[in-house]
Amino acid sequence: MHFETKAIHSGAGVDESTGALAAPIHLSTTFERNEEGEPSRGFSYIRDGNPNVVRLEEALAAIDGGDAAIAFGSGMAAGAALMQTLPRGAHVLIPDDCYYGFRHIAEEYFERWGLAFTIVAMEDPGAVRQAMNAETKVIWSESPSNPLLKIVDLAALAEIAHGGGALLVTDGTFASPALQRPIEHGADIVLHSTTKYLGGHTDVQGGVLVFRKRDALFDDTLHARKIIGGVLSPFNAWLVLRGIRTLSARMRVHSENAMAVARFLAAHPRVEEVFYPGLESHARHDIARRQMSAFGGMLSFLVRGTRADALAVAAKVRLFTRATSLGGVESLIEHRASSEGPGSTTPENLLRASVGLEHADDLIDDLARALA
Ligand SMILES: Cc1ncc(COP(=O)(O)O)c(C=O)c1O
Repeated sequence: MHFETKAIHSGAGVDESTGALAAPIHLSTTFERNEEGEPSRGFSYIRDGNPNVVRLEEALAAIDGGDAAIAFGSGMAAGAALMQTLPRGAHVLIPDDCYYGFRHIAEEYFERWGLAFTIVAMEDPGAVRQAMNAETKVIWSESPSNPLLKIVDLAALAEIAHGGGALLVTDGTFASPALQRPIEHGADIVLHSTTKYLGGHTDVQGGVLVFRKRDALFDDTLHARKIIGGVLSPFNAWLVLRGIRTLSARMRVHSENAMAVARFLAAHPRVEEVFYPGLESHARHDIARRQMSAFGGMLSFLVRGTRADALAVAAKVRLFTRATSLGGVESLIEHRASSEGPGSTTPENLLRASVGLEHADDLIDDLARALA
């Protein structure tokens, strides 16, 4: 079945008791047990499992090409739960450009959890190979990366990880499963912040881990969710599943619009550099072409000058909204270093844009005015 069809029909099905096409939302926190004391219909307590979350997990596993998925209350909860399953003494490779929250997890919590990490230029397979050691259990990758839109060669990283007895984990939030399915390139686990494109409407928070195999690590991570408790609410599961239904159509327009905006910015004299994997000038455009079916709605650019010059451009937009986050229907722009705060390694003259589903000409007019 094609992606578009899976995205419509996975985790779906007419409700047995009413015939409703849209799934009912089950808010019950507890479920009846039978006379033998066992769960009567497979559910027991909301933190252990919920029908809406199960539907969503089925859909996410299907569209990302995995065996199984575990949904969480946020992307960060998903990543943290996975790291908490690692044995003490494990070593993790972290990319030099990735969602700053994960760098914070490594810097602030790994030591308390008995984990070690090394920050690596993940787009350089030679550097990754060199950074591996006998304790390396996970190569953490993100492609395209946040905020510099770096592209890593997933197949090359999978080979290095597996050669060293480690797992390749890929944060695919920027691409979404509509444009890139890391498991098809060798990744073992894919993370998405479903707060972004999967939800798609700036109104729901969630995260997911999609597993290539339903194996012991899957069981361990599911257990971590139950015990540590980073669960997704039934209503949020329902919203993310609804978002999945329109994902492929939205991603097509996000990608077309972002390409038009990237080309406009690349030709603008006040723009020093544009980071968008769809541009032929992108350092790893060829790898992006191989791994992605289109290049998504996220881009960053350097405004010629200083932090103040970049902030001045962001201050003048009218159609874009100055806000963090991404993946919704409306276009956003942010001065990324300000959002990341102390410890940010993002260039001070960088603006990051989440290009939405408005008409591309209107978005370009808005940026032209802001840059004038
Ligand atoms: C690439 C990426 N991964 C993970 C996250 C974390 O997701 P959440 O905010 O749902 O915890 C974000 C959030 O912006 C992100 O951009």
